[in-house]
Amino acid sequence: MAKKRIMVMTGGGDCPGLNAVIRAIVRRAALEDGWEVLGSIEAFNGVLRDPMEVVLLDTKTVSGIHSRGGTIIKTTNKGGPFHWPTKHPDGSWTYEDRSEELLARLDKLGINAIISIGGEGSMDIAQKLYERGLNVVGVPKTIDNDLSSTDMTFGYQTAVQIATEAVDRLVTTAASHNRLMILEVMGRDAGWIGLSSAIAGGAHVALIPEIPYDVQKVATHVNHMVEHGRGFAIIVISEGAKSLGGTVTSRDANTPGYQNKLLGGVGHRLQEELSSLVDVDSRVMILGHLQRGGSPIAYDRILATAFGVKSVELVLEGKFGQMVASQNQQIVSVPIATAIEEYNYVKLESSMVHTARGVGISLGD
Ligand code: F6P
Repeated sequence: MAKKRIMVMTGGGDCPGLNAVIRAIVRRAALEDGWEVLGSIEAFNGVLRDPMEVVLLDTKTVSGIHSRGGTIIKTTNKGGPFHWPTKHPDGSWTYEDRSEELLARLDKLGINAIISIGGEGSMDIAQKLYERGLNVVGVPKTIDNDLSSTDMTFGYQTAVQIATEAVDRLVTTAASHNRLMILEVMGRDAGWIGLSSAIAGGAHVALIPEIPYDVQKVATHVNHMVEHGRGFAIIVISEGAKSLGGTVTSRDANTPGYQNKLLGGVGHRLQEELSSLVDVDSRVMILGHLQRGGSPIAYDRILATAFGVKSVELVLEGKFGQMVASQNQQIVSVPIATAIEEYNYVKLESSMVHTARGVGISLGD
């Protein structure tokens, strides 16, 4: 008898823990008779390419990958079945909706269910395909922790760990030179990585997208720390932060199919804004993709593995249109539609914000 087929894919920016999810999916499915797992290379692109790029994933293929960063089935944050970029001989690009063709191809491959591991964009695509009748289960991933309906996404804690280590290292060089060091971290429109690493690393200022900063207040705090503290200051700034009345520092990607703005550079902007207001030399460090690379920490491996196991169980129970989630220490599922309804900002009344203020970290307000 033909085996039932789960197809797994990873979409959006990569994130530590993706391989641990893939491994858990394959291992959990292997406990059931009559199921096999295929992987589509670069999200749905593998199915839509000619020739198709689809691989069989068995327990041998995924052996030992839980500790590896990246994703063995690759990922993309460009295009997608509803917005497929096509280049024309004159160099121009157009975008096609290839979703009908995708569904037909999946049918031909004998796919019974899709497990889509991704962020907001991938969940959006998953929901649209679910509404067209595809059996989809979602697994949330992002270092930004900006997906609602789950207490945490895997990859986030690893990013926080890396950013915290960066703060620790910046402290020793800042102290040696009596400098202000500005560390820019990722997170898009949410300040989770910035605020967490500022607390964990003992930074003096944390500037996050949720709280537009008053540059004068930031300068006053920095000057106070330099004069009355240990002679140096550390600011952690999230890439999506902006000053009061200011705008987010971003630019167009100019890459066909890439729909997001490219963030980055706010650290240098802040350095300039502060230059005439602080009495100390400053340097900027943009941590960038180091936050996404390399091995996931144990916490993220465990969460990723739990998500992988649960996603297969949702498939076995026929619960589609659902996204796995972590809520109050339990692994549960929520409708994908609910998960993408709301962006997960840092709440101003949250204990994280309270804690930061409680240890004297200035939030620039
Ligand atoms: O969403 C994850 C993230 O790493 C953001 O924090 C960052 O702004 C963005 O992706 C960068 O994406 P790219 O892979 O296009 O450089």
